[in-house]
Amino acid sequence: MKRTKVKELFASQQTGSDVLVKGWVRTKRGNRNIIFIALNDGSTINNIQVVADALKFDDSLLKDITTGACIAVKGKLVKSQGQEQNVEISASLIELYGKSDALTYPLQKKGHSMEFLRENAHLRFRTNTFGAVFRIRHAIAYAIHKYFNDKGFYYLHTPIITGSDAEGAGEMFRVTTMDLINLPLNKDGSIDFSNDFFGKPTNLTVSGQLEGELGALALGEIYTFGPTFRAENSNTPRHLAEFWMIEPEMAFYDIDDNMDLAEDFVKYLIRYSVDNCREDLEFLNKMIDNGLLERLKFVQENKFERITYTQAVEILTSASKEWEYPVNWGKDLQAEHERYLVEVHYRKPVIITDYPRDIKAFYMKQNDDGKTVKAMDVLFPGIGEIIGGSQREEVYEKLLSRINELNMPQKDLWWYLETRKFGTAPHSGFGLGFERFVQFVTGMSNIRDVIPFPRTPKNAEF
Ligand code: 4AD
Ligand code: MG
Repeated sequence: MKRTKVKELFASQQTGSDVLVKGWVRTKRGNRNIIFIALNDGSTINNIQVVADALKFDDSLLKDITTGACIAVKGKLVKSQGQEQNVEISASLIELYGKSDALTYPLQKKGHSMEFLRENAHLRFRTNTFGAVFRIRHAIAYAIHKYFNDKGFYYLHTPIITGSDAEGAGEMFRVTTMDLINLPLNKDGSIDFSNDFFGKPTNLTVSGQLEGELGALALGEIYTFGPTFRAENSNTPRHLAEFWMIEPEMAFYDIDDNMDLAEDFVKYLIRYSVDNCREDLEFLNKMIDNGLLERLKFVQENKFERITYTQAVEILTSASKEWEYPVNWGKDLQAEHERYLVEVHYRKPVIITDYPRDIKAFYMKQNDDGKTVKAMDVLFPGIGEIIGGSQREEVYEKLLSRINELNMPQKDLWWYLETRKFGTAPHSGFGLGFERFVQFVTGMSNIRDVIPFPRTPKNAEF
């Protein structure tokens, strides 16, 4: 007999038919005559109720059906007597796949703290909250591919191991096969990488953008969607050392086209989540964040505010508020400033453009004022920066002089520079932090709770 997923059972509601379900026991209750088992198989947040006539089953089998155990149940789908569900299974056969020791099973019925569940990340998928979060994470990932595919963008797989520092921030994890206790040295004492695996220093990528640009300048519109790595020592609810980023890159887009795409993209993803993850979102709205559904609706329905960095600084300096980090033109905005603009001043998502060139990456297109670049950051309520992007500098001489000004090694970037020599074109792109976006959609307050196995400073368990 073929197994039916619980989600399909609830959808079909074909009472009277024989069914086979398989899943993990959430709870078991009952008495000497009748047993009620709440079974979950991950296909939906809802459990199917299994009703077993205790006299028809072996005592030892029933004793082994404890919270966490895995079972297969054959039986008839019937109309439920209870209030909580429409249908339930009247069991005729139960097979025990895996026992679960009730005393040591970490997930008890009482609510657990997020910290505790993080320490039990191998089992936290079995909670309602994490089941919901990871189903939603999947739905958003799917919607991202759908959005770009429908628009004619190509999914480009950029390398994970690179020899360049795309963001120029130096926050990279080194990749090497060298013996760390016995490093080969050059005469001047520096490390000799010629015998390393790639014959030169390499690292895990911080962004697929530079390679993405090469693709866009031939294929037109591409996007990447892959893991990126940052060795920044930031222990915050918004930072991971390994996170996933979506980076579209488009030939012939200027900064305004770029902003339009970013806004349309995130609104589409929110709409998709709301339309396809109703039950999970309603659960999270009830249990995690009461404002969640309303916030999703609000962001989807309202135009994002667009201001320049200079305007942002004016708003912040004239606000009657004590800042922990003082606001000065030329300094990067801190989380407290971003949140003020989004949550207090405008009360909606804000796109800030035209940042000072000195606080942004080398590849951004320089404005005529000589001071600012065509950068854009999209700021979201509760999250802060969710997207960073820009129009790219497509003029060879300007790009080269910026690279030299920053003392960046030209030899690592010759291929990037060549695209500006051979048929350069105006182009733009941005990067959406996938986990920050999943945080926004799920209402989870810590980024570690929206990625299956978070990597953060001093933590690489599982
Ligand atoms: O602003 P960032 O550094 O931009 C880039 O990497 C560009 N190359 C993107 C592009 O133009 N193609 O990062 C983009 C986004 C941020 O807005 C943030 O959402 C996320 O990536 N992000 C992180 N998310 C989790 N943990 C971290 N440590 C993150 N650093 C950046
Ligand atoms: Mg950024």
